[in-house]
Amino acid sequence: MGRPMGGLEYCSFCGKSKNEVKRLIGGMNGAAICFDCVKICYDMVESSLLEEQEVEASDLDQLSKVKNLTPKKVKEFFDQYIVGQELAKKYASVAVYNHYKRIILQDPEIEKSNLLFIGPTGVGKTLLARTIAKILDVPMVIVDATSFTEAGYVGDDVENILYYLYVNSGYDINRTQMGVVYIDEIDKIARKSGEHASSTRDVSGEGVQYALLKIIEGSGVYIPIRGKRGGSDTLCINTSNILFIAGGAFSGIEEIVKSRLGKNKIGFKTDKTDKTDKSLISGKNESQDENIYQYVRSEDLIKFGMIPELVGRFPIIAPFHPLSQKELESILTEPKNSILKQYVKLFEIEGVSLVFTDDAIKEIVKTADVKRVGARALRSSIEKVMLNIMFEAPEIPNLREIIINAETIRTGKPIYVEGKKKKIVAV
Ligand SMILES: Nc1ncnc2c1ncn2[C@@H]1O[C@H](COP(=O)(O)OP(=O)(O)O)[C@@H](O)[C@H]1O
Ligand SMILES: [Mg+2]
Repeated sequence: MGRPMGGLEYCSFCGKSKNEVKRLIGGMNGAAICFDCVKICYDMVESSLLEEQEVEASDLDQLSKVKNLTPKKVKEFFDQYIVGQELAKKYASVAVYNHYKRIILQDPEIEKSNLLFIGPTGVGKTLLARTIAKILDVPMVIVDATSFTEAGYVGDDVENILYYLYVNSGYDINRTQMGVVYIDEIDKIARKSGEHASSTRDVSGEGVQYALLKIIEGSGVYIPIRGKRGGSDTLCINTSNILFIAGGAFSGIEEIVKSRLGKNKIGFKTDKTDKTDKSLISGKNESQDENIYQYVRSEDLIKFGMIPELVGRFPIIAPFHPLSQKELESILTEPKNSILKQYVKLFEIEGVSLVFTDDAIKEIVKTADVKRVGARALRSSIEKVMLNIMFEAPEIPNLREIIINAETIRTGKPIYVEGKKKKIVAV
């Protein structure tokens, strides 16, 4: 700046001479400040005081929110949608509670707890992940790990996961940065040869695992933005508050778990850790007792072919169990938006009451191919029957009630009851 400072000749802050300013105030050691600079400093102090007040007020607001939320309340929310899976719901409710505290209080000290859902197909893994996003009220993206390749290869780049989340957030970067990413079929990108990996790079498996690791552990990830303005822009997304949930069936892991337990010369059912695991389950259930997934540890996943770094990023392994006959019956009738409730509602609009007998419900479960696709089979089991009924019913005069029993499920023929229509209920 060339100009000599201070000496009551010049302002020590902006360097203007005493002739250029209204007045100079002298300080120690020849320092001086002009009126303009005093004003600027005053504004700075005032605005920072205001900011502090705002932070305090919103902190209180947020604190009270967190206080009202408890893991138990989160689980009660899950219970409305997800039947059974008590242990998985318990793990998830604690993780959601901590994540909530983390994003609300913006306290990076609270460690992020990404979740790994393991269990057979069609037992509620994706459903629980969706319900987590619902309770957190954040955007979500569901992707299939098998559709990605590491950068530079033909296929979708892993970074695009964050782009899809950005799209689902309505192009809102702040909401993107607290979203939920569900990566399905994570077990399908295991190293092909498990523990004995070859030295050649495995494009579809290991490479993708490393690429995923980058977005999960990276605080700032640059993603290409397409469309809108035509050109290719990049956007930096901070992933440190994004909750990652991975899901997979890990079929074959049973052998790995069994051999580990065998090696330790500890019986499968009497292992000490098993007891602690079991004590977490409230309301014992047959299928949970036999569930191999609750014994899976990180080391088993590594043996299965997951890279240790990625396994390390998913500290919570939430096991899902196969669904029992009773649970499948409950899935048909109990959840807030259960399949049968949806059909009942459809007919209610037309003033017709639709009734499923207990036998019908048992028969639906019986005919469903649960072994192969889990609870998803329930829908196909009932859909065929309902298609005919929905096609015929509007043609039947004075239809008041439709009764669906076990016979209906087998033959497709319901009992139509005629009579005075119910009052039409607005839904
Ligand atoms: N435990 C459950 N409680 C309620 N519905 C379930 C449950 N498990 C599965 N379903 C039903 O089956 C469908 C498929 O389940 P999903 O969560 O996609 O299975 P997956 O475990 O393969 O991710 C869900 O949309 C839901 O309707
Ligand atoms: Mg799924």
